[in-house]
Amino acid sequence: MSSRGLMAARAKTSDIKQADPCSFVIFGASGDLTARLLMPTIYRLAAAKQLSDSFAIVGFAHSDRSDDNFRELLHKGLTDHAGQKLSAKIVTWLLDRASYVQGEFEDAAAYDRLEAKLNEVEKKRKIPGNRVYYLATPPSAFVPIVKCLGDKNLTHEDKGWRRIIVEKPFGTDLASAKDLNKKLLSVFAESQIYRIDHFLGKETVQNIMALRFANGLFESLWNRDRIDHVQITAAESVGVESRGKFYDETGALRDMVPNHLFQIMSLVAMEPPTSFVADAVRAEKAKVLAAVRPFSSDDVMRDAVRGQYGAGTIDGKKIEAYRKSQDVDRGSTTETYTALRLQIDNWRWAGVPFYLRTGKALAARRTEVAVKFKEAPFTLFRDTPVDSLAENFIVIRIQPDEGIALQFNAKVPGPRLELEGVRMDFKYKDYFAVQPTTGYETLLYDCMIGDATLFQQAAEIESGWRVVQPFLDDWRESPARDLTIYPAGGEGPSTADDLLERDGRHWRRIATRAKP
Ligand code: BG6
Repeated sequence: MSSRGLMAARAKTSDIKQADPCSFVIFGASGDLTARLLMPTIYRLAAAKQLSDSFAIVGFAHSDRSDDNFRELLHKGLTDHAGQKLSAKIVTWLLDRASYVQGEFEDAAAYDRLEAKLNEVEKKRKIPGNRVYYLATPPSAFVPIVKCLGDKNLTHEDKGWRRIIVEKPFGTDLASAKDLNKKLLSVFAESQIYRIDHFLGKETVQNIMALRFANGLFESLWNRDRIDHVQITAAESVGVESRGKFYDETGALRDMVPNHLFQIMSLVAMEPPTSFVADAVRAEKAKVLAAVRPFSSDDVMRDAVRGQYGAGTIDGKKIEAYRKSQDVDRGSTTETYTALRLQIDNWRWAGVPFYLRTGKALAARRTEVAVKFKEAPFTLFRDTPVDSLAENFIVIRIQPDEGIALQFNAKVPGPRLELEGVRMDFKYKDYFAVQPTTGYETLLYDCMIGDATLFQQAAEIESGWRVVQPFLDDWRESPARDLTIYPAGGEGPSTADDLLERDGRHWRRIATRAKP
């Protein structure tokens, strides 16, 4: 969590510092990401008065359009995707600050036009040269854009700060991620690079640090002495939908694990940082990934599971098999589900397995962290009617139904000694007015104030890829081996159950909220 995030959590809007004056340059400004995510996010920041009056949006993309035409496009994006009633005043405020430059990403001359436009809007809006460059493009455009920005000296911080936001996917394996880092770092300093992982924009993910470090209650239990294992789940009920082309080349492992799931795991497992300064937090997170036990080729077969959804039913709706989806190879061996068993080889976590799973077309949408505590000795209950103890869990519900539940045993009222598992349940909505959010508000705002806590450093990204690389290699060599087809709308492949059962454990159910 950024230091600002912690302290401003319940502050009034008027207490929150405005972002620095800046130009927000969007590469790929005609695309879906700009319409669906960036514009609604920027609108909400403007509505919350978190943007400076000295603010400008400069779109850069390949399609030919005038400033006015670009404003119409942004307006449409906002109307279609904001998910709330728009204030005409704020929309006008934003659109007045928007302009457009047409250009190919690798065409050096286009960057002269970009610079001319930036100089013009910065003069008009009294912006002191601060610039965010946002790469909302396909990954193949990242390097050409970075190179041109460097060649044209648009990265130097002589007249204000210059920062770049890089979207996911950050590489497709360890080698490509390293290469991308190298190219970025040949042009930008690490402190100028903001590698986005939208999970870190989720309040519930940031709250993992508050839960652990703002309470005297849990941290003393947060170790191998008291914790039996940790389950991290990101289950989705949607299938691949219209993203077949991207997804068939990517798969569940690349799409979700080295980024989103590892970010959650790092926050759950990290040591307390010395402060909430960005580098202190990120260094502790990076140490977690660096401590994950490397996988040998035997481990890969034992500790990883992959599956692909077949036909099935979700919420009464028939879902066709992944292989029949638009833009997906009919004989595809791409995994739409993966589960892994990881060991973090450090003092705190030695011997505590972390089980991670993610998949599409499952019974429900459920992203959660479940920390299972070791059982109390049963001895005392041996001669009583109690035949077993309910499991002790802390469950952090990332989404939906955001909250935290604590599961423990309680005595059933009555003359006999009987126990039942009960649950204490905190729900965000019972305590806080939950605003509509894309999760990007915090991230864009943090970039504009120079707080990189919720962004990933080069080392974190590379450690994440290093952990999953043996799986990528093995699955590339044996594409069909152990790929289990699971019915859409279920709990995933049965092989994932075996992964835990082998250790005498079991997954929490995805379909219905497990009774405490
Ligand atoms: C994206 C993945 O990064 O995260 C998608 O590419 C996935 O496949 C999405 O659906 C999940 O994000 P969220 O915020 O909807 O849980």
